[in-house]
Amino acid sequence: MCGIFGYTGKQSATPVILEALKSLEYRGYDSAGIAVIDGSKPISIARKKGKLSDLENYMQEVPLPDSFSGIGHTRWATHGAPSDMNAHPHTSYSGSVVVAHNGIVENHNSLRFELKSRGRNILSETDSEVIAHLLEEHISKGLSLKNAVSQVCSLLEGSQSFVAMSQYEPGVIVGVRLGNAGGLVIGFKKDEAMIASDVVALLPHTQKVAYLANRQVVQITENTITAFSLDGDEINLDVSDLSQDIESVHRGQYEHLMLKEIMDQPEALSDTIQSLVSVDPTYLNLEGIQGLDVALSKIKHVVLLGMGTSFHAALIGRCYIEKMTGLPTDVINASEFRNRQVALPPETLLVSISQSGETVDVLEAMNIAKEKGVVQITVSNSVNAQTSRVADGVIYTRAGVERGVASTKTFTTSIAALYLLALRLSEIQGHLTQEEIQAHVLDLIRVPALIEEQLQDLDNLKVLAKKISIFDHFLFLGRGNTLPIALEGALKMKEVSYIHAEGYPAGEMKHGPIALIDDSFPTFALAGKHSLRTKTSSNIEQILARNGKVFALLTEGDYELKGIVDEAIFMPETTELLEPFVATIAVQCLAYYVAYERGCEIDQPRNLAKTVTVE
Ligand code: G6P
Repeated sequence: MCGIFGYTGKQSATPVILEALKSLEYRGYDSAGIAVIDGSKPISIARKKGKLSDLENYMQEVPLPDSFSGIGHTRWATHGAPSDMNAHPHTSYSGSVVVAHNGIVENHNSLRFELKSRGRNILSETDSEVIAHLLEEHISKGLSLKNAVSQVCSLLEGSQSFVAMSQYEPGVIVGVRLGNAGGLVIGFKKDEAMIASDVVALLPHTQKVAYLANRQVVQITENTITAFSLDGDEINLDVSDLSQDIESVHRGQYEHLMLKEIMDQPEALSDTIQSLVSVDPTYLNLEGIQGLDVALSKIKHVVLLGMGTSFHAALIGRCYIEKMTGLPTDVINASEFRNRQVALPPETLLVSISQSGETVDVLEAMNIAKEKGVVQITVSNSVNAQTSRVADGVIYTRAGVERGVASTKTFTTSIAALYLLALRLSEIQGHLTQEEIQAHVLDLIRVPALIEEQLQDLDNLKVLAKKISIFDHFLFLGRGNTLPIALEGALKMKEVSYIHAEGYPAGEMKHGPIALIDDSFPTFALAGKHSLRTKTSSNIEQILARNGKVFALLTEGDYELKGIVDEAIFMPETTELLEPFVATIAVQCLAYYVAYERGCEIDQPRNLAKTVTVE
């Protein structure tokens, strides 16, 4: 939620910041703004409601002065509607301090009240603006920007991060992280320094980065990067060398990032699987959880958690863990985990899934579990992100940077990681034989090629997408391993095409949802060979008998069921445990092409943000 970027160095700051904001726009696109500082002159700001392109158009008419340092922001509105006035960066009462903020100042009402009583005029409806005024009040007492930030942090409640500049220290940018909402990552380069909410904004400039931990402050100038605890003690940042391929984050030949990322999946899966297994001889090689063998051998109960698409990955993970280990396994939505008194006996393994590693509800749930002392493993696509710091072990997926707001390749790579985790648990607990484990690994290794073939033949799917794009409601039905894919299919459909779609267990359909069925409320049934096809086909008949339309996803060659339903598309045949992969590809493509037919803004669906760092 909200993208922050700060740059100081030898280049002209505005174009660098604009470019960075383009790569951060997935975090929010309600408004955008840039502030630059030019020597001793007042800070200049450009802010505009709407997308970054609106800000760019505005800046063509009213350009910012040339400058070598500045901060920028893309907003996902929490407090105050999208407007020019509510757009960041926000300034202090005299205009000498600017702030770009991500997260929530939970006590902003009382701070606002106190500031007003001291005569400060607050112009926006945001929670963020108070930070700028408080910083100026502290700086006016003689504090440096960095010390003012540390002091002001003690007044702020809630999880957040921000970057700030002061007119009295041109060339200096200070950033801070408080809590789990919104990480900050610092980019190191000769004669330049930058700070961003996501590494993706740094990749065009540098591969040397360091993540700011909770309650750390960083001060950057063109040739120094210094980090401190909030108490003022200097700390060493852990600098990592990324090997991200910058090309992989661009759209390439594809019209939308979502399509590009769907098409990336064979490679993303192959990279992920190769990093976690060795072949010839075949064995599991999950380095990030090495050292947990003794703890894992004692596990009697597994709890998985995640949000959104990662929650659906957790549901698939449950199928794998139950099947491969026989351990009782629960899945809990991370935000609900916090609202319940979940029993976590000491022999529990908590597995969290978060592609970004930054989702605040996941982090909060992990922190609760940490207090209870259970073993934690996290699955993430972001190296060194916050979840990997909380967990005892981490399994990284190798999907490459995912920028489309609707997650695609991080979903399939996460379920591949969960499949391998389930096998490793089974190996440690002696549930499956080595031969069985090897056979399962070899099955998984074949998936990328299977999907590659599937993605080369989408003609029938595109025709179906055109036909179904006229409907405004959909029921997605699945059973067993493909129930989570029905839920994911419905989510993808909602996210990118704005069609109302509900995912349901096929057997549950007759306990309520069937009342909705008529010829304008079709069903999309996942009825592959391994999706308990026979039972699902009875549910299909029940819908057809009530004049409901049924579209179905079937296993290649299932002409019997194809003859019954209104329209069908095929997916390749695979094993029971791997059917979720090929079914996922179908529902992702379907949502994409339906959204395309409906002319939706696929890469920037309304109201959404990719990384959700507010509760
Ligand atoms: C947001 C995104 C989803 C994503 C979810 C969890 O809602 O729009 O695509 O699945 O966050 O994100 P995470 O980074 O924790 O996997």
